[in-house]
Amino acid sequence: MNRRDLIIGASAAIAAGELAACSAVDETHTAGISPQPMPKSSIQRTSGLSSAASRSGRYFGTAVQAAGLNDSGLRAALNRDCSSITPEWAMKWDALAPSAGSYRFDEMDRVADFAGRHGLALRGHTLLWHKSVPTWAAGLIARTREWQHVETHFQRVMTRYASRVREWDVINEPIEPNDNRSGLRNNQFLKAFGPDYIEWAFWSAHKFAPQARKMVNEYGLEYRSDYEGQRRLTLLRLLERLKKKGVPIDGVGLQAHLDLRKGALDHNGIYGMVRDITAMGLKVVVTELDVVEADTGLPLQQRDSLVADETRRYLDIVLQFPNVIGINTWGMNDGHSWLRAQRGRENRGLPYDSNWRAKAMRNSIHAALA
Ligand code: XIL
Repeated sequence: MNRRDLIIGASAAIAAGELAACSAVDETHTAGISPQPMPKSSIQRTSGLSSAASRSGRYFGTAVQAAGLNDSGLRAALNRDCSSITPEWAMKWDALAPSAGSYRFDEMDRVADFAGRHGLALRGHTLLWHKSVPTWAAGLIARTREWQHVETHFQRVMTRYASRVREWDVINEPIEPNDNRSGLRNNQFLKAFGPDYIEWAFWSAHKFAPQARKMVNEYGLEYRSDYEGQRRLTLLRLLERLKKKGVPIDGVGLQAHLDLRKGALDHNGIYGMVRDITAMGLKVVVTELDVVEADTGLPLQQRDSLVADETRRYLDIVLQFPNVIGINTWGMNDGHSWLRAQRGRENRGLPYDSNWRAKAMRNSIHAALA
């Protein structure tokens, strides 16, 4: 198996020399800087997923909605399993600033305060995402092409939550090979600022959170198709460019929205990608794990074991790498999953069912971490 096959499993490659060069690239911005200490937890999580994860120096977390924090089932699951939470929606630009000039932090503050009270780390998700730019900001950016508007947003969010957040998804989903030859998504930012917007975003984020881990977060990197192979390759090329230029990037978020409709996981493609990210000196976090079912008409037990098996197969690949430092699911409970809203019916792709009964998926995460 050569490097070409490993990275994309199919159709393109990064020359070995190019990647070897990456691992030697300047790491000054991370050297000697350790992430902010985790708040001390007052809670014993001895049998849960986070305690299993911590045995190999990792963490386990999940995405939460501010309103969901009143649910005693969620609180119990967080207590049992998680040492980190991610705001599913509350930190996005359009959630914080739906209209020009006025920010409302109440929902995000609730999530941050909850994290503080319960000794949970908080992921900063996400500063820049093409799907969550409020209309007023999109207009302003297109009209003025002034980076300052983006940086001001970063400043408002990052300074407010700096003491709690040790990991920021600075850019979310910048890759789209179908948009143009560079493979970068033709989003509002690319149109206004050109491809350098990505490094500007990292430099701006670095100003306000020099010690936190700053990451790019991406989806569609798991399956055996030319398209996903192309996405893996484009991501690696982007990371390589950023590292060569000394941009303050510390890691990669792999969203990992697994999907049983897409066929087989590309074992070699995933392995090669994580290995090459590792060689660049970057950390990896699985940020949004869940599983889309292919057939919701099967008996429950069968559905749950298909989901659990896919989860286990994926985690067994990525957890071979010690620099995969955290696993996060995109919610804990099928009843509140974004996939339910997307598909218009229940999808059993999270660790607990809608009545907070633990499912096989939870066991397989536990076993993979153990
Ligand atoms: C989704 C949330 O789950 C939804 O509730 C919201 O309406 C839209 O965003 N990739 C991401 C997440 O990075 O932020 C998205 O979350 C799901 C896809």
